[in-house]
Amino acid sequence: KYKACLFDLDGVLVDTAVYHFQAWKILGKHFNFELSHEQNEELKGISRVESLDKILHWAHFQATQEQKGRWLKEKNETYLELISHMNPSEILPGVISFLDQLKEQGYLIALGSASKNAGIILEKTGLTTWFNAIIDGNVVTKSKPDPEVFLKGAEALGCPATACIVFEDAQAGIDAAKAGGMKVVGVGSPTILRGADKVISSFTELQVSELLLL
Ligand code: BG6
Ligand code: MG
Repeated sequence: KYKACLFDLDGVLVDTAVYHFQAWKILGKHFNFELSHEQNEELKGISRVESLDKILHWAHFQATQEQKGRWLKEKNETYLELISHMNPSEILPGVISFLDQLKEQGYLIALGSASKNAGIILEKTGLTTWFNAIIDGNVVTKSKPDPEVFLKGAEALGCPATACIVFEDAQAGIDAAKAGGMKVVGVGSPTILRGADKVISSFTELQVSELLLL
């Protein structure tokens, strides 16, 4: 029934939201803005450029294109510094065992992430070799909730959308998967994530055999 699993990276395989949060908070000092935890939730799955636009909007700050360019670069430099120490211990619970089961049962595996830093994070955590295809922020032109990232993943694997299952922690990502005609498993809280076919709080509670029930 299903042939492939497409994984978001941040918040699904590793918890990098804390590093994004820290990096944006440091950047916010330039315009006296303290990003809240709730606001950081809204940045999940959203591209770097769109994140800055949202933040500046919340801060009621008008920035020039030139200023925005510098801040995007600065935020990413802080983020790169923060993730430079990442290692396999930061892979979220149950992920490796789940990927193992998928491989064993012949599923294809792709990454579908908005991050331009996905490659570095996969390398640092030793996850790269699990993937048959990697689609990240460097190859997509439209951000989630546009389905482009997942459609490109399905195409790279040679699978129709209907044979794909997406794993996502962000509402924008769940909407993207649905817009692409795919099944989607939300990773997080069922009260926050809307429209997923199933929601798990961690991969430790999911067996590959249960995917057939989707
Ligand atoms: C997504 C994160 O995976 O990638 C977002 O959930 C982030 O918070 C986006 O803004 C872009 O990431 P990066 O690494 O290119 O700045
Ligand atoms: Mg995510």
